[in-house]
Amino acid sequence: MILTTLLIGALLVGALITFVVLGVGHFVPWLFVLATIGLVVLVKFREKRKFLVWKDEYSVGIEAIDKDHRKLLNLINQFQTAVLYRTGREFEQEAFDALVNYTRTHFKREEDLMEEHGYPDFEAHREQHRKMIAQVEACMAQYTSEGRQVPLERAVAFLQDWLINHINGTDQEYSEYLRSKGVR
Ligand SMILES: [Fe+2]
Ligand SMILES: [Fe+2]
Repeated sequence: MILTTLLIGALLVGALITFVVLGVGHFVPWLFVLATIGLVVLVKFREKRKFLVWKDEYSVGIEAIDKDHRKLLNLINQFQTAVLYRTGREFEQEAFDALVNYTRTHFKREEDLMEEHGYPDFEAHREQHRKMIAQVEACMAQYTSEGRQVPLERAVAFLQDWLINHINGTDQEYSEYLRSKGVR
């Protein structure tokens, strides 16, 4: 990020100097301008790909659960923003805590629904939730003790996979059963 900013700055300075020395009629300053624009577009494109985007296929067909999943997705994106733009430890910690807290709320909502409607694989699903919370807590403990020494970009990538596997994998398993019980 810092290197890219420096490079963009250098290209802009290059454009400015060559405009002054060679004038606007010369092609060289315009090459600097084009290179700057190209680099900015490339950086924006690459940044965008680092964020999760909701897809219709993620839906489990139950409104409250889909709403939770969207919120979790946004919370991971907020964490990504905090990490990507190096907003500081306080913001990173806040974003991380918000994600963990809402994950607990969401898991409880799913578990209550499964239990209420007698979902046969309830215990196995609850066990998966426990494991997922343990994984995130381990990630959090490492962060709390080591701070920015922990490669946070890797932690974000892990959480992104973790959430998508949950939404698109394990949660799809109860979708049909709960919907057959009239849960929407
Ligand atoms: Fe879920
Ligand atoms: Fe789940």
